[in-house]
Amino acid sequence: MYHSFSYEGVLASSQRAAWKIEEVLPDGASLDFSRPFLPETLARTAGVEGLDVRERLILNHVRGHEYLSIFGLVEEFILPFVLDHARPLLNGDDHRVRALLQFAGEEAKHIHLFRCFHETFVRGFGEGCSVIGPADAIGAEILRHDPLAVALVILQVEWMTQAHYVDSVHRNGDLDPLFASLLRHHWMEEAQHARLDTLMVEALAESRSEVGIMAAVEQYLEIGAFIDAGLKAQTELNLSAFERAAGRTLNSAERDAFLAQQHQAARWTYLGSGMAHERFRATLRDLSPAALARVEAVAPAFR
Ligand SMILES: [Fe+2]
Ligand SMILES: [Fe+2]
Repeated sequence: MYHSFSYEGVLASSQRAAWKIEEVLPDGASLDFSRPFLPETLARTAGVEGLDVRERLILNHVRGHEYLSIFGLVEEFILPFVLDHARPLLNGDDHRVRALLQFAGEEAKHIHLFRCFHETFVRGFGEGCSVIGPADAIGAEILRHDPLAVALVILQVEWMTQAHYVDSVHRNGDLDPLFASLLRHHWMEEAQHARLDTLMVEALAESRSEVGIMAAVEQYLEIGAFIDAGLKAQTELNLSAFERAAGRTLNSAERDAFLAQQHQAARWTYLGSGMAHERFRATLRDLSPAALARVEAVAPAFR
């Protein structure tokens, strides 16, 4: 095992890191649409050919809307998964019960926070942005898989949020301050979730044979492919929102280039940046070197 995470330690850290929604998004606050929302490492607007400075900023905001929507959606399947995992353990270790319930409570708060940000975005942006869904159908499709596969997807999401803040936001001083605050506060609590998820993955993998572990890895990849198809559909919705807000229609060659480049940017944002995270890879390696090798073989497609 590469770490020394414990339920007691995570519980203590999460109590220190806890914040209230109004500290992240004060009542009546508005987003500054003269600034980007997402770091360029995720938005990759410079890679879309033919956009001027104003259009690149519009695309960044559309991607910001996508980030709020996709995370809202992801948190909605994490919450029931954590509650289901905690339910049979209620009579066990007190620190574990409290840490898992705190985890679930924080994810419920994150769903609420992303929703509040979404409302603030819609008030300021003025043009309709759409999102894939419905969220409960997407959640149900993911949750029908092997719990170990779902726990791996969640672990990847938790480490991914660490990378989004630490690697990107940290060095982007010009982001809208409210959006930067959202990423920072999410990072603070997700740091504990990533540790708890690591313990959840280990508990679910405990008595599995190599064959059982590799079967779960295949299901994890299946969920990844399902999410990827959703990202492709989301990129098409983003293109429509972009055209409406920018007030011009791209020609057919420009549209194809936009869709290919922005789909890849979304792949990196929601899949690749988690797959590449050193801690996620360490957990896979602990499960089985073959599990890590299998994921490493597909990871380049999500860069
Ligand atoms: Fe979260
Ligand atoms: Fe989380």
